[in-house]
Amino acid sequence: MRVLFVCLGNICRSPTAEGVLRHQLKEAGLAEVIEVASAGTGDWHVGNPPDSRTRRAAQLRGYDLSQQRAQQVSAADFERYDLILAMDNSNLGHLQAMRPAQAKAELDLFLRRFEGAVDEVPDPYYGGEQGFERVLDLIEDACRALVIELRGRL
Ligand code: 4NP
Repeated sequence: MRVLFVCLGNICRSPTAEGVLRHQLKEAGLAEVIEVASAGTGDWHVGNPPDSRTRRAAQLRGYDLSQQRAQQVSAADFERYDLILAMDNSNLGHLQAMRPAQAKAELDLFLRRFEGAVDEVPDPYYGGEQGFERVLDLIEDACRALVIELRGRL
């Protein structure tokens, strides 16, 4: 099974989700059967590592994002992945607009996996350190719910 996280730039939210889910899948013994990746709807940062603030905040919680490089989502991803999860409604709208007819991938808002108070992971790019902690909090909770869901699908 293949899961793709998508945000705008692929340097803050979706790389964090990729790193957190990979970590949790390893802990759950599912790393060999579920592939995780991330991409952005925009192309500004293609080829770049995640934002240094994102990497630092993730590192402090034990997630290593240093090997990741930003990529832009493409129509082919709708055939390659089984589940594509958008970080916010803007990302979701963009993906819906580019989704090929009869695409294989299921497309949804990531936080629908976790019954919390919000349904979007807020973009931390133009804010302070606190925003990056909030991103991690939301993503860790939603990934826990996602691991349970994915286990049930295998
Ligand atoms: P992300 O954050 O979508 O979580 O990676 C952003 C990164 C870069 C920009 C916007 C959001 N940007 O405008 O360059």
